[in-house]
Amino acid sequence: MISELNKSSLKASSTKESIICGFVECRAKTLELFKNMDEATFCLQAHPDFSPVGWHLGHIAYTESLWLLERNAEASCLFPQYRQLYAADGLPKNQRVKLPSLIETRDYLDTVRDKVLYHMEKTDLQQQERLWRFLLQHESQHSETISFVLELIRNQQSNQEKENSWHLAYSALTPNPLNEMIQIPAGEFEMGNNSLDALDNECSAHKVDLETYSIDRYPITCKQYRVFMEAGGYKSNQWWSEAGWKWLQAEKATQPLYWEDNPAWYNHPVWGVSYYEAEAYAKFVGKRLPTEAEWEKAASWDEKSKSRRIYPWGDKQPTPEHCNHNNFHSQTTPVNAYPSGQSAYGLYDTLGNVWEWTASWFDAYQGFEHYPYKGYSQVYFDNEHKVLKGGSWATRPWALRSSFRNWYHPGVRQMFAGFRCAA
Ligand code: AVJ
Ligand code: FE
Repeated sequence: MISELNKSSLKASSTKESIICGFVECRAKTLELFKNMDEATFCLQAHPDFSPVGWHLGHIAYTESLWLLERNAEASCLFPQYRQLYAADGLPKNQRVKLPSLIETRDYLDTVRDKVLYHMEKTDLQQQERLWRFLLQHESQHSETISFVLELIRNQQSNQEKENSWHLAYSALTPNPLNEMIQIPAGEFEMGNNSLDALDNECSAHKVDLETYSIDRYPITCKQYRVFMEAGGYKSNQWWSEAGWKWLQAEKATQPLYWEDNPAWYNHPVWGVSYYEAEAYAKFVGKRLPTEAEWEKAASWDEKSKSRRIYPWGDKQPTPEHCNHNNFHSQTTPVNAYPSGQSAYGLYDTLGNVWEWTASWFDAYQGFEHYPYKGYSQVYFDNEHKVLKGGSWATRPWALRSSFRNWYHPGVRQMFAGFRCAA
């Protein structure tokens, strides 16, 4: 018979093994993105808001080294010559283009990782679990940002082919069966997440009471969005907020960033849109964007058991059958492709495929305490960042859950974001 004491140490060691496995698996996925990469791509700044992929790779090693080794294992700084380059507040983004080579960066990653794994093996889980889980999600998020930058580069290189592809009239298309809405009855639900792998901005979990509302069963598809484009949505200010119209004039956008007018994509979610485009579309169809609370309740609340689910489908960790994530397809999938990923209320595709803009500004929950540093979330509680929910096709499983909060300026469209509407 296993005693209670042994049981708990068994559990601790298997938790530790699963975190270590996560570190190893996540690294393999990150490095996969660098297969056959040339040095020019490695150092390319594709957009002023985004650092080169090579910088993200070095910053992953730097952050692990700083938090896990220097701050915790009293190690001295490895590769001190990289400190200024890779620190989050070290250099402006446009000065992050003179980088060590891919081989040198891999040597940095491997050297740090060897020491990290050695330290993890001999350290007690209890003291460090939260930090380790944070670091696993830190790499997960930079790994996703690397996918954004690579897609942006691909997009810039193929722009010419795409320009003349606007040909089919909407009237030639079949009616869209994917515009159902689901009514969510009034009542309290639990928002946020107090578990050890929750990031600082998800704490504390708290009750929120909402009125009855409706929300789209699926994210807005390319076919639906095309109606807005064809109706001159980008040409008339009547659908746009003041800030949105100003953004549009400056950006001179005429279509989503990753738009391709191909019927093969029509049941895929629209992606590469800014908050302003999402907001304009919602107004065009007489709806609005959901608040973060409305989105989260519809994705995570189980009315029957009056309990919060970690994932829309329950508490089982995501697999390739639940939703489109972790670069399994490296592109979007039709919004109705994952029936087994439905939420209790029947929403599809809340996790994976594309991030979804919400109407809410990124802000602290009651009881917020920054972790591990103020610059992670707190400095963005500035009423200049909108919350995005749900993750994309490039989100790693460790950063995929209904309580996860992402945030960007409303004018950013490089990350893989779409939206659904509420009413
Ligand atoms: C939450 C994705 C906006 O990439 O800037 C990574 C995550 N913070 N390192 C970002 C983050 C520090 C953050 N986002
Ligand atoms: Fe970072």
